[in-house]
Amino acid sequence: MFVFKKVKNLQKYIQQKKNEGNIIGFTPTMGALHNGHISLLKISQQNADISVCSIFVNPTQFNDKKDLEKYPRPIVADIELLEKNNCDALFLPSVEEVYPNNLQSLDLDFGKLDKVMEGEFREGHFAGVAQVVKRLLDIVLPDKLFMGQKDFQQFTIIQSMIDQLNVPTELVVCPIMREESGLAMSSRNVRLSEKGRKEATLLYKTLGEAKQKMEQSTPKEVEKWAMKELSAPGFKPEYFTIVDGYTLQPIKTFEETDYVVACLAVWLEGVRLIDNDILKKA
Ligand code: PAF
Repeated sequence: MFVFKKVKNLQKYIQQKKNEGNIIGFTPTMGALHNGHISLLKISQQNADISVCSIFVNPTQFNDKKDLEKYPRPIVADIELLEKNNCDALFLPSVEEVYPNNLQSLDLDFGKLDKVMEGEFREGHFAGVAQVVKRLLDIVLPDKLFMGQKDFQQFTIIQSMIDQLNVPTELVVCPIMREESGLAMSSRNVRLSEKGRKEATLLYKTLGEAKQKMEQSTPKEVEKWAMKELSAPGFKPEYFTIVDGYTLQPIKTFEETDYVVACLAVWLEGVRLIDNDILKKA
């Protein structure tokens, strides 16, 4: 695997691969890689000729400085894992390389997409995510971009950015990877104790039961029930919201859209966990 720290070296490599007729697949990450990331890489390998990953802990998307400081950075293990899984190239830039002084800031309007859920609780988060993903797309110029369904609102906003700016990249959304217990894989899981990891299966359990309750309840009733479930000792829920999967706006009835998604965020042992489940899709 090639490891590039400089934009111009990565671009030279990619240009050469493109000239040879290769389809470029790109998976952006913030490192602390787990099987969820590796599943994105595998899907990239099935859909592209050359698979590029990036590891960059993007400071502009952290509204909480402590979260940024505490973000795990096991870079040696990450490189080993990518190598073992036959990643072709890793982009490992510094902050200066991603954000040179003359870089123009993005001024995009996501309408209501970034006002709810994560957007409500993490101010400026999506502006930072869109900024870094646009910058990385400008550098890598991939044919296909691979992102996980785990960050449902994130991929929806990135798709909106791609559409608004006519970026010639196809976004491929990949399924959530879960541990055997049902806990969605996340870089933040390593900060949970053994006990916390077991308890955190409550998130998946609640999503599953919410799906079953759809038949006989309104979205509001299910949300209220779920918030209570997620208020178990040790847990602090931020939201459990049932939304239209296209607009991310809360719904009043399960019939008003053919794409229904339940999204949640909870705190456990000082770690913020998110998860979601598609309750209905036409
Ligand atoms: O999902 C993530 O890990 C990050 O938000 C991303 C897409 C790599 C941008 O920094």
